Amino acid sequence: MAERRESLGSKQEQFEALVAEAAACRRCEAMCGRSAVLSERNGRAGARVMFVGEAPGRQGGDRTRVPFSGDQSGRNFARYLASVGLAREEVFITNSALCNPRTGTGANRRPTRLEVSNCSDFLRRQVEVIDPRVVVTLGAVALEALRAVEYHPFTLKENVGQVQPWRGRLLVPLYHPSPQVLASHRREAAQLEDYQSVARALRLAAAK
Ligand code: URA
Repeated sequence: MAERRESLGSKQEQFEALVAEAAACRRCEAMCGRSAVLSERNGRAGARVMFVGEAPGRQGGDRTRVPFSGDQSGRNFARYLASVGLAREEVFITNSALCNPRTGTGANRRPTRLEVSNCSDFLRRQVEVIDPRVVVTLGAVALEALRAVEYHPFTLKENVGQVQPWRGRLLVPLYHPSPQVLASHRREAAQLEDYQSVARALRLAAAK
């Protein structure tokens, strides 16, 4: 028991160190005016499932400091999460790039490969510290970001909604919940069906 308390304590310290390092990070030139969306508000250390998105949105995580909240992607994500009976408090949510990337005119843009690679060590350490049984990637950027942490051969096209082994955990590749993806690549009904795999992965993990 004392050992378990100690290990939880040190996980908490590791998480706090990670948050402080991310807050001080100035690696991406274009994002030096932003700050990393990483804190205890991302979710519970020790969560069974971790969701990895692309990058915080300007109206979303960059403003609210909570990934996938305050914008349409966040509202879509909340619906999908609820469809499998998961509450935000039970999960950990992060992004491939922890800061909000913007164009010269201030619109959201995709993080570049370099920006995702600059953040890769933060993602690796979040996986280690949170130690989830199931990792769910939201979109192709996140699936690639995870591949850089440790190789996997999966693609969104071939493996969407499948439960795959990854680094002693289970990986579920899903589409991103943005309104653009919803309108063009993966409609509501298909996304709701995909989320059933998250519930399946959690059942598999619990049975191990
Ligand atoms: N909000 C996030 O936190 N991540 C995304 O990828 C999109 C919106």
